[in-house]
Amino acid sequence: MKSLTLLSLAIPAFLSLISPAAAGRHHGIDRKKVVSKYNPERTADSDETPMQVGNGDFAFGADITGLQTTRPFAIMSSWGWHNVSLPNVPGQTEIDDFTGLDWWTHGRLVNYNQPSPAQPNISQWLISNPHRLNLGRIGFLYKGKNVSDDDLADKQQKLDLYSGVISSRFTLSSRRVEVTTAVDPNSDTVSVEVKSYFIQSGDLTVFFDYPYAIGDSKFEAPFVGIWDQESKHKTELVKHRGGNSAQIKHELDATTYYTTINWQGRGGISRQSHCSHRYILEPGRGQTLKFTTTFSTSHKAETHSVDVIRRASGKWWRDYWQRGGFIDMTAVKDERAAEIQRRVILSQYLVAVNGAGRDPPQESGLVNNGWYGKFHMEMYLWHHLHWTRWDKVDLLERSVNVYERFLPASIVRAEDQGYKGARWGKMSDPAGRSAPGEINSLLIWQQPHILYFAEEEYRRDPSDKTLKRWDHLLEQTAEFMTSYAFWNESTNVYDLGPPMYPASENTNPNATINPTFELAYWRFGLDIAMKWRSRQDLPVPENWKHVAENLALLPVTNDLYDLYEGIPDMWKPNTTTIMDHPALTAAYGLLPPTPGLNTTIMKSTAELIWEIWNFPDCWGWDFPMLSMNALRLGDRERAVDMLLHDNFQFDDVGMPIGGLRVPTPYFPASGSLLISVALMASGWDGDEGMKFPRAWNNVRVEGFRPAM
Ligand SMILES: *[C@@H]1O[C@H](CO)[C@@H](O)[C@H](O)[C@H]1NC(C)=O
Ligand SMILES: *[C@@H]1O[C@H](CO)[C@@H](O)[C@H](O)[C@H]1NC(C)=O
Ligand SMILES: *[C@@H]1O[C@H](CO)[C@@H](O)[C@H](O)[C@H]1NC(C)=O
Ligand SMILES: *[C@@H]1O[C@H](CO)[C@@H](O)[C@H](O)[C@H]1NC(C)=O
Ligand SMILES: *[C@@H]1O[C@H](CO)[C@@H](O)[C@H](O)[C@H]1NC(C)=O
Ligand SMILES: *[C@@H]1O[C@H](CO)[C@@H](O)[C@H](O)[C@H]1NC(C)=O
Ligand SMILES: *[C@@H]1O[C@H](CO)[C@@H](O)[C@H](O)[C@H]1NC(C)=O
Repeated sequence: MKSLTLLSLAIPAFLSLISPAAAGRHHGIDRKKVVSKYNPERTADSDETPMQVGNGDFAFGADITGLQTTRPFAIMSSWGWHNVSLPNVPGQTEIDDFTGLDWWTHGRLVNYNQPSPAQPNISQWLISNPHRLNLGRIGFLYKGKNVSDDDLADKQQKLDLYSGVISSRFTLSSRRVEVTTAVDPNSDTVSVEVKSYFIQSGDLTVFFDYPYAIGDSKFEAPFVGIWDQESKHKTELVKHRGGNSAQIKHELDATTYYTTINWQGRGGISRQSHCSHRYILEPGRGQTLKFTTTFSTSHKAETHSVDVIRRASGKWWRDYWQRGGFIDMTAVKDERAAEIQRRVILSQYLVAVNGAGRDPPQESGLVNNGWYGKFHMEMYLWHHLHWTRWDKVDLLERSVNVYERFLPASIVRAEDQGYKGARWGKMSDPAGRSAPGEINSLLIWQQPHILYFAEEEYRRDPSDKTLKRWDHLLEQTAEFMTSYAFWNESTNVYDLGPPMYPASENTNPNATINPTFELAYWRFGLDIAMKWRSRQDLPVPENWKHVAENLALLPVTNDLYDLYEGIPDMWKPNTTTIMDHPALTAAYGLLPPTPGLNTTIMKSTAELIWEIWNFPDCWGWDFPMLSMNALRLGDRERAVDMLLHDNFQFDDVGMPIGGLRVPTPYFPASGSLLISVALMASGWDGDEGMKFPRAWNNVRVEGFRPAM
């Protein structure tokens, strides 16, 4: 009987192993139909979010005109970054002048990368530099003048998700203008086609404009860049090749990049005036204007025509939707399913546009800037785990070498603090420098992420190649995790912290010891590191084993898990300890159960959280995290409701709303949504299969493997 059950469970798991394309044919979800059902449409501009096209490393934010005519939404990239000059305050003129702060750590002074009150200028410089650039703005002028909302009528805009093309139509002075906008999947090029009588009449022209950047605010939303500092930067029309191509060079201090503009037919480009950075493209007199704009660090940019880009975009997106996992809930009557489906489809689109580049994405992707455009290593899991769960691993591959790239700096970071191995940084720029910060330097939950990614890969491809590829990285990671854990001679366990910040970042770091989630995550990670060794027939280091098996127990008071060991009055109504991320639920949800986890206690803890936690103070990934926790606890209804919580919202184009705590968009919400829905689609080891509410018996899924 038992083996029969096992066998029947094994069948769906086996089916999901066959190639996604084959799986698609086998089950036959009409993916195009499902995707297209959620094409966003607008009839008015949003003041907060653009409609976007992009390729993961480069994105163009369009207003209702298909360009950036009425609103300066951003054009951003992985590579466009800028430094202001170093401070000229004596003793703070070099990066090496920065000293950080020494804090007592288990009886010794450890240096942390924290802003020093004695060095405010170099500290702040390191936080806000480099910052990510808005590369420019492209928009229409009518009769040489700016176009405003009031000039436009009959506005209609639609994003075709299946081909990555925005179609915008509006009337201007009673005449129709039609614009299509796309981005090349193979270069950082925006391609535009405009149809209008006004092209022929010469009344509609296109401007290109360039902002400066100073990195003076942590969040630059909804718009990025400084438009009134013309004298701080330089632009120049460096090439005007024949009739229909031009190149503009933009220099901001040490940063230089190029815009290569190609258009079809006659026409010409000129600078509006020598004191502005606006250039005007006056098209030749046809019915149609087609032009491409390529942004690059080299003046030798490869460019393609509008038609080639449209085809490439169509092919790339078709392939994107057709491969990997897919969920079709369109036949479910429950209206909650329709909204989850909408969010899932739009999130799938937006994470490919904003979060599939050569570096981990920033939380606001390529829409606007948060934390100066930098990315957070602890958010990388939320941003990228879904690629493995949805079987689109090539998009994770684009950036996962970040661990290889950041390894040397991470070994130095650990060594300087007297630890072994590699201590992964936090708020980072592409060079791997972690920005100074009290929280930045004391957060630890980013450390095991790499073990999660590696194990996911091994489950997909249990080969020697996989083992070899990750081994040295996992070794350095486990070495740090082992040496960071502190052997407490009075309790005979290994402690995590103090000082440290838990994921919720809201406790006194000098009092924070043994937080529930981090302890479970340490155990989860070290167990993987040890298995990695055994799989290669290599000896498991004794100290890894000793630490893993002797970590402090998950802290419990009155049969409830604590945020951290010894926290006073955690559950007192209205205290800060029941605000912010309820990360202890990640110990059973995001993570599979680790040895010692008591699901009875976890259930009581979750029930109390549902009852008294201050949810208006939660945001983003909190809700998918709670959803996964509810799902593993067997409460499917609650798992769905958590994904539709009042404080977890997505706008009309699918941008995840920041809420009270962070600006919009906040993409960890999209990534975590996809992770949690994948868990519903696949189940997990030991309890495989779909876990949607039982009444949703006509959900169809393809291409998922069970989670850990
Ligand atoms: C900014 O300065 C840092 C430190 O010198 C350097 O590593 C980085 O490459 C610079 N970035 C840019 C975009 O100039
Ligand atoms: C933590 O302790 C260090 C000394 O080791 C002290 O400088 C720091 O201000 C303390 N931080 C807090 C938040 O109490
Ligand atoms: C250095 O930082 C201090 C504190 O933020 C600030 O008051 C001062 O103006 C800064 N000096 C310069 C030259 O930027
Ligand atoms: C047109 O818009 C630009 C950018 O917003 C602005 O700098 C300029 O002053 C405007 N021109 C007129 C005539 O309003
Ligand atoms: C050992 O653990 C106890 C209980 O958590 C704690 O109070 C004590 O400070 C720890 N000892 C050291 C040396 O950290
Ligand atoms: C929680 O505390 C805030 C002030 O910190 C107060 O305004 C609010 O009314 C309190 N809410 C409850 C439910 O006690
Ligand atoms: C889990 O915790 C409950 C409540 O404290 C306890 O009754 C039960 O024995 C524990 N289960 C295990 C397996 O330890």
